[in-house]
Amino acid sequence: MPITPAELIANLGDLPPLPQVAAQVLRISADPDATAEDLRKVISTDQALTSQILKISNSAMFGMMREIKTLSQAIMTLGFSTIKSVVIASSAKNLYQRGAVGLQERLLWEHALVTALASRALGKQLKFPRVEEAFIGGLMHDIGKSVMGVKFPERYGALMRTVYNGQGDALDLELETFGFDHTMVGEALLRSWNLAHSLEEAVRWHHQPTGASDANKPIAAIIAIGNQMALDRKIGIGSPESLAEATTQAKEILKLTDESLEGYQAAIAEALEQDKAMISEF
Ligand SMILES: [Fe+2]
Ligand SMILES: [Fe+2]
Repeated sequence: MPITPAELIANLGDLPPLPQVAAQVLRISADPDATAEDLRKVISTDQALTSQILKISNSAMFGMMREIKTLSQAIMTLGFSTIKSVVIASSAKNLYQRGAVGLQERLLWEHALVTALASRALGKQLKFPRVEEAFIGGLMHDIGKSVMGVKFPERYGALMRTVYNGQGDALDLELETFGFDHTMVGEALLRSWNLAHSLEEAVRWHHQPTGASDANKPIAAIIAIGNQMALDRKIGIGSPESLAEATTQAKEILKLTDESLEGYQAAIAEALEQDKAMISEF
């Protein structure tokens, strides 16, 4: 018997909250009347975040001629949507790295960031209208793994080691061991945060994009391919082969052939190369 969402939430108990600053930044960026000053005020309440944004603004990625010294300059130079992505990425990093800091947390986080960057780059190539959503979905796609790791350190830690050693597939083992998997946990978490429904679906269906509603199949498919691209680069835990079915479904949804996808790969690789600075700043 598959577990119901209500049983799942009961099993998990308290879920980690969306960090305050991230929640406020999301609200502001959805508000057409919000100003750069509104954004600056919210971000400036968080010292660590402010200095991270300045560091990233000054990183090689943006090739600025002058040093960016203030948050206002950073917002003006980078723009709302990039700042939003940096804030969400910073929150996501903290969430992925809760618990003991070890190999797995670091790998999970790097995998999420590269999946996000690859998903955004693919979204751009496909002229997907909401590329920032592809980025945020990519960042959050495996957040359920982190929640499971925190909730069930022993059992989930053992499971991850099995996957890391190439002795099993995460999804299969999760279902076998817990009766639910990280995509369901991720969906439950995003729902508790009141994020866009499309993001919930993207996270829920990143291993099986045909399961999403018609409206959200494309975003789920983009993230499925982003996920594959990260694992192809050996960034993450698990074998790229385990994603073959998800990728096949995703290509069908996005009407991509092997050839057309191949054509996009070079541009995506280039985007990832440019974003390297951002990866190392995080
Ligand atoms: Fe996953
Ligand atoms: Fe993944």
